[in-house]
This record gives sequence, C-alpha cells and structure tokens, in this order.
Amino acid sequence: MTSPIDDFVQQNQTRFFDELLEFLRIPSISTLPEHRQDVARAAQFVADGLTRAGLENVEVVPTDKHPLVYADWLGAPGKPTVLCYGHYDVQPPDPLELWKTPPFEPNIRDGNVYARGACDDKGQMYMHIKAVEALRHVHGGKLPVNVRFLIEGEEEVGGDSISRYVPLHKQKLKADVALVSDTELFADGVPTLCIGLRGLIYLEIEARGPARDLHSGVYGGAAPNAVYGLIELLAKAKDADGHIRIPGVTDDVVPPDAAELESWRRLPFSEEEFLRDQVGSSALTGEPEQSVLERVWARPTFEVHGIAGGFASAGAKTVIPAQATAKVSLRLVPGQDFEEVGRALERAVRTAAPEWAEVRVNLLHGGNPVQVDVTAPAFEVLDQAFESVVGRKAVPVRAGGSIPIIPELGLTGAPVILTGIGLPDDGLHSPNEKLDLSQLWSGIEIFGRFFEMFARSGAGSATPRPVRSA
Ligand code: BES
Ligand code: MN
Ligand code: MN
Repeated sequence: MTSPIDDFVQQNQTRFFDELLEFLRIPSISTLPEHRQDVARAAQFVADGLTRAGLENVEVVPTDKHPLVYADWLGAPGKPTVLCYGHYDVQPPDPLELWKTPPFEPNIRDGNVYARGACDDKGQMYMHIKAVEALRHVHGGKLPVNVRFLIEGEEEVGGDSISRYVPLHKQKLKADVALVSDTELFADGVPTLCIGLRGLIYLEIEARGPARDLHSGVYGGAAPNAVYGLIELLAKAKDADGHIRIPGVTDDVVPPDAAELESWRRLPFSEEEFLRDQVGSSALTGEPEQSVLERVWARPTFEVHGIAGGFASAGAKTVIPAQATAKVSLRLVPGQDFEEVGRALERAVRTAAPEWAEVRVNLLHGGNPVQVDVTAPAFEVLDQAFESVVGRKAVPVRAGGSIPIIPELGLTGAPVILTGIGLPDDGLHSPNEKLDLSQLWSGIEIFGRFFEMFARSGAGSATPRPVRSA
C-alpha cells in the first residue's frame, strides 16, 4: 500500500510511535481520585497533540471532574465538517499480577503494543489526530475538510461532564458527521460499522442489618446477616435461565427485526470459539432461546460487579456482618430508558429486600441505548474509504458495550459513525490490553482517506439523520 498519507506515516512512524507510548505511560484512570493529576496530564497531552497536528482553538475545558479537550480547524469554506469524538481516560488496570508487563509501561510484542488504554481508547483516538496531521501535510498545510475534536476524560465513569457540555455548545459542535472510533472490528480483517450500542445503568445497593458486626456463634441463627440478605436480594433479579425477573424492567424491550437477525446469522461467528478464545470458561450462560449474539447485543443484562462487606481477608473471622454493598449494573437495549429502569429498580429493591434490611440504592451513572440510522451519505463514503484501503465494505453489527454520550452527540444533528480498528482479542478492560500496530497504521490511512473522500462527496447539504436514543 503506498499513498501520500501512507508515505508520510512511514516517514514519521518512529515519532508517531514514541508519542503514542508517551500517551500510554500516563495512568489516566478516571475512576480513581488519586489519579486526578494524571488524568489532567493526559488532557494536556491530547491538547498538545492536537496543536502539533495543526488544529486551532485548542482548549482544555475544566469541568466538575475531568477536563474536556476541544479543538478545530475550519479553514475549508463550503466543505463539510467532521466532529471526532474519543476519550483519553482508561479503566483501572487491576488485577496487576495478571499483566505480563506493567500496564503503564507500554511493551511491544509481536507487532502489538500492550498497555492499559492501548485500544480503549487512547490508540484509537490518537489515530484520528494522526490522520489529520498526515492529511494536513499531504495537502500543503491545509485540510480538505473542516474538523472539530471533542475528547473527554470521563467516558469510563459515565461521561457526566460531556453530557452537560454538548447541549450547551450545539453551535460550536456543529458538524455534518461525527466520527467515533471506540468500538471493535467484528473479526480481524473485517471492516465493521457499529449500528447499535447498549445503554447502561450502574448502581450501588447497600444493605444494613444488625447495628454492628456480631459474634456468629453467640447470635448466629437469630440475627440477620447483611451480606447474606444482599445476596438473597440479588439472586431474585434473574431466574436460573438468566431471564431478568425485575418487575417493570424488560417490558418495553424492542427485539431486532427479522432482517437484522438474518444478517447476524450470516456473520462469521462460532459459539465454540467465542467460548474458548474469548470467555475461557467451561460453558456460556444466559437465555437459552437467544443466540449468543442476541444475548450480547440485543438483550438487557443484570450483572454484579462486586460485593463488599464482612470479613474477606486472609484467615478466618467468625462474624455476622452488619453492612454489605454490591456494585451492579444493567445493560439496556432499544425500548428501555435508563431513568425509567432506575425507578423500577429502586422499587424492586425495596419490595424484594428482606424485611429486616435497611436498603439504599445509589445511582452512579447511566446512559441510553443507541441505534444508528445508516442512510446518510457519510456511511457510503466510509465504505469507499474501507474499500480503497482494505478492499471491502464495512459489515454492520451491534456492540454490547456502551458509550454514554453517543445519544446526545446524535442530537447535535450529525449522523454518528461508530467504527473502530480494535480487534476482538484486544482485551479491553482486561489485563494485557493491546493494540495491533498494523491496525493503527492502516487506520490512519483509512480515516485520512475518509476525510478526503467526505470533503469531495458534497455532503453537508444532506438532511441530517441523527442517531436516536432508542
Ligand atoms: N469503548 C468502550 C465501549 C465499547 C467496547 C463499545 C467494545 C463497543 C465495543 C467504552 O470505553 C466502555 O468501556 N464503556 C463503558 C461505559 C460505562 C463505564 C459508562 C462500558 O461499556 O462499560
Ligand atoms: Mn472506550
Ligand atoms: Mn472502556
């Protein structure tokens, strides 16, 4: 593959790569207060990268929590505008002992770079910046298209700040298309367009029983146990086949239509390989009447992320815990609304809790599911870009993950393209997260061409087809 963009990437590969490594060394873990300064450093790094790429009006926007980074280059009058979204924050790296090399000391093995955030989403958002940098070089210091960037540092914790910012800055964010690379390919070598994301509601449930931890011999048999009560409560959420049994939560679920289900049956997907290579347990679980792709893309979930309470350190202590907390979440699908689900959950917890228990529900964050209407011309342009670099069009799929700001980004009027270059085995949120470097280099080429082709497509006058919150 040789093209002006690719030549520039080749000539600058060492510098591009060093910059990426520097970015990956910053532990920008948005959920951990002790990393606040690191998150701020990562924001500054992104801002500097945007300046280096030739963007103007680069701003680090302070918020209640972590900064947003905005930049634009609007020197192509009459040409369309692309809004690139990404996030520079990452998930905590634990369990640390499972990393072959430390999560914030990027390590290169077999053409991959291993680090927390390598794929999700530092590597992928960096690719957009480098595509712009390359394009500007190729076009003699200008861009053929107008671009804006809005990069957040709270995606992994629910994106509250950006969701306050976007509605207040509709004009500033005006674009003909929004480009988001924070999803994965369906399979290596298969360009993928994501047309659906699940929503999410994340909460803490706390149960209190006795006034203090009690001797389990003296009181056991007669005193309530907060951990056990919480487990009993949680166990009522699903039946043995994995159907959610929380009243009022699944009533409005809209299943995929026949055509979409048929398209999923044609995808190269093997349940055995999924079990063996990705999940690595002895069996898959969940609603038996649904295919695995339906379960992970189109069905709501209820998960317990962790339970704290009582004694769980080394050794043994005979105690009846007074208090217990569970972190739980539900993934939401079209038809469900996170605020309604939140209310139903709160009611259900009160009804299902043991009568002695004092329960508290604390909503941490939520976001609605997304369905993308792919009829806008930008989607065809994306296919052309994929065809010119990879030799094939994008396959439409859904993803089970969530990106809380996407429904609101769609409300700015721009169609939202969700397409990434991550591979299914990149290990997002897991130990040994990685990015395949050949994906990065070809991604820069793909998105560079997309910008060029979109500029030529005459899009911009087209009727916007917003993504809708489903
Ligand atoms: N990039 C992911 C979401 C994703 C992953 C979409 C794979 C499609 C395929 C994003 O960074 C993420 O992890 N989101 C969180 C959101 C939550 C913390 C509000 C998620 O899905 O758990
Ligand atoms: Mn992400
Ligand atoms: Mn993530």
